[in-house]
Amino acid sequence: MSRQDRIQGLRRRIYDILEYDQLASRWTTAVARAIVVLIVINLVTMILASVTEIDLVYGTLFDIIEAISLFVFSVEYCLRIWVAVEDASNRHLHPWRARLNYIASGMGIIDLLAVLPFWIEPLFPNTIRTLVLFGIIRFFKLARYLAAMRSLLNALYNERRALLGSLVILLGATLFFATVMHLIERNAQPDRFGNIPDAMWWAIVTLCTVGYGDVVPVTQFGKLVAGVAIIVGLMIIALPIAVVASAFSEEVRRRDFIVTWGMVARVPLFAELGASDIADILRLLRAQVIEAGRIIVRRGEPATCMYFIAAGEVEVELPKERVKLGVGQFFGEIALLRRSNRSATVTAATRTSLLALDAHDFHSLMEREPRIAQHINEVARSRGGSTERVTPKGDIASGELAASEKDKDEV
Ligand code: CMP
Repeated sequence: MSRQDRIQGLRRRIYDILEYDQLASRWTTAVARAIVVLIVINLVTMILASVTEIDLVYGTLFDIIEAISLFVFSVEYCLRIWVAVEDASNRHLHPWRARLNYIASGMGIIDLLAVLPFWIEPLFPNTIRTLVLFGIIRFFKLARYLAAMRSLLNALYNERRALLGSLVILLGATLFFATVMHLIERNAQPDRFGNIPDAMWWAIVTLCTVGYGDVVPVTQFGKLVAGVAIIVGLMIIALPIAVVASAFSEEVRRRDFIVTWGMVARVPLFAELGASDIADILRLLRAQVIEAGRIIVRRGEPATCMYFIAAGEVEVELPKERVKLGVGQFFGEIALLRRSNRSATVTAATRTSLLALDAHDFHSLMEREPRIAQHINEVARSRGGSTERVTPKGDIASGELAASEKDKDEV
């Protein structure tokens, strides 16, 4: 193996570890945990250091923790720049272009802001207080490692249009009620409702149902309008809350663990896709971990999804033999293609991580990506599964029915 290959291999391994590809190496989880612990210690330190009495006693300890964190996060940032080339979305780009993409990405900027101000701080003495703000930015580094935080960010991103719509409605209502209240109350309280911007403070506090009570209407008509504003506010605020809550639960339902870009790119079928297509598929896949020995699909049962193997090995029970499938291969496609029941029982031979694709998403992917469709059809055919659609009701061949009945009897 040449020196170049060794360096590339090392870069790939570091990328998998830093990208929190849980399936790539056992180091991944250890490194991720260490970074999460360091971030939490860092945040606690920062909060405690803002209390003067505590800072006077433990100041030196806080400084040591800060120095260690700064060193670790800086090394992490430099490594991330180096390995950015390995990112599937950057694969076709010039290495420096790929690195620039990472530097300019959301997480890249957070990683930079988590270290840069602390390095340049000696140049600007007396800015220590402002640094606390940048320290808190380290909190956002957690997004990489906490599935729930990532799911929430995904939910917010997916629903960005609905949320923007809710925001526009809220702004419109604020403007409307502020103008009406300004007209009603401007003579009674010129200092509070004398102009529309002042009245907007009252409107936003009322519509968001916070109600500080620092500005309240005093005229009868003003109170009536305030009552209407409160009810309208409740309805408007309920909109984005419902949108985010349902999108969040959908995201959490979709995945038991984080599906990373690396995992999807490792499936050869997807490897040749462009960045935006991989991103699309990433959203469709649901991750599952199956313990060794557990049955994943049972012959004769109805099919709801197909699976890609991200790690581990499965065993397909065929009438005359058992076939093993490993990383990058897929199964469960025959029943979806034929719209029939499962043609074989598949069991996890080792602890296996699977990426499941729901039937509905499978069919739309097949329509959208002819090359993927062709490949899946070919594999299904080579496995002895005719890919012709069976009867609309999903009947299976009589032989299979008999076999599934036999299976049931055995159970
Ligand atoms: P499906 O019928 O949905 O569920 C069982 C799966 O086992 C099937 O899809 C195929 O993915 C897989 N399978 C069936 N026959 C073979 C075979 N000969 N070799 C490998 N995998 C198979």
